[in-house]
Amino acid sequence: MNRGHIGVLPRAPRLEDDSYLDFMETLRNFNTRTLFAKILPLTFDPQGESSAAIRSWKRLMRSQQQQTWQKVLDRYASERGRWEAELDAAEKNRPGRLHYDPAFQVPRYAALDIHLQPGGYVNDTLAGYVFHHGTKVFYQGENDQDELHHQVASFVAPPADGNITRILDLGCSIGQGTTALKQRFPQAEVTGLDVGLPMVRYAHKRAVDLDVDVHFRHGLAEDTQLPSGSFDAILCYILFHEVPERLFPVILREIHRLLRPGGTLTVVDAPNNKNLPAPNRFWLKFDSAYNCEPYSPAFVASDFRGLIEAAGLTVTHVGPTPTFLHLTTAVKTAP
Ligand SMILES: C[S@@+](CC[C@H](N)C(=O)[O-])C[C@H]1O[C@@H](n2cnc3c(N)ncnc32)[C@H](O)[C@@H]1O
Repeated sequence: MNRGHIGVLPRAPRLEDDSYLDFMETLRNFNTRTLFAKILPLTFDPQGESSAAIRSWKRLMRSQQQQTWQKVLDRYASERGRWEAELDAAEKNRPGRLHYDPAFQVPRYAALDIHLQPGGYVNDTLAGYVFHHGTKVFYQGENDQDELHHQVASFVAPPADGNITRILDLGCSIGQGTTALKQRFPQAEVTGLDVGLPMVRYAHKRAVDLDVDVHFRHGLAEDTQLPSGSFDAILCYILFHEVPERLFPVILREIHRLLRPGGTLTVVDAPNNKNLPAPNRFWLKFDSAYNCEPYSPAFVASDFRGLIEAAGLTVTHVGPTPTFLHLTTAVKTAP
């Protein structure tokens, strides 16, 4: 049966799944807060990594993550045809809003099991369903109603002339930021683009369910195939730390090409800091090595501000946000 939604959050197919995921959310909370506070002093100790306490903490974190994904995937995969039919129906229901080319080839760098999600963003037709429930656990209840995506959308500044008619959400995943942007700028045409076809198919279904009129495209941030100068604002929410370093300048040049003069770029992502404090360094290393985040250390160590300016944009702000992520904004001043 369809168990409906709590606000914008879908219930899992069975009550038992929601109970299991609630347990996993509590366990993650316990690991990241209570247990992490206990191992914190060890993160300052060069020998700490080999201690039983840290090794146990890593095992618990990794197992919690693996079991969360597996539970959701098993449940959805057990009725694969039903959910695929749901995605097909959403495409028919609102044609012209989802754009993809069946011949598109996903680059190998994007086909990893990022965050240990089986099949990652691209290799399982139901990845969007799995991602939605899995990230509900990851965000530990702080994004059940897309609160974080609304916060991120609130950081997007219109160009100085106030005209904002086209917005692009690059690396949109399941479109939570895309729908939040549309709700913030109802007059604008908002497009979400992602390399994961299952992600944009689910994003489209979700937007149809919510009755929010947005576009989704399957494509590459580094080569969007969209017209030059066609966007007033572009958002990249936690995209850059998930792409290989060689693509940072390529994506930034593509963003420069896509923005019209005066157009704005908003990036919300990990802070760039070569001299992270020991606990943050520990987290970064853990996430990279044990949670399949291979590209994030290079992003954190990069001179991202310098790369933005080298792409021809002028940085207007760099600073913290209410979460651990940082906000960088820039504007296209010259053609
Ligand atoms: C951490 S998720 C981003 C989260 C998303 N912005 C949100 O609001 O939840 C990173 C996303 O970037 C996408 N991605 C990675 N490399 C990409 C690329 N080269 N072009 C487009 N999307 C990409 C992934 O498929 C994934 O959905």
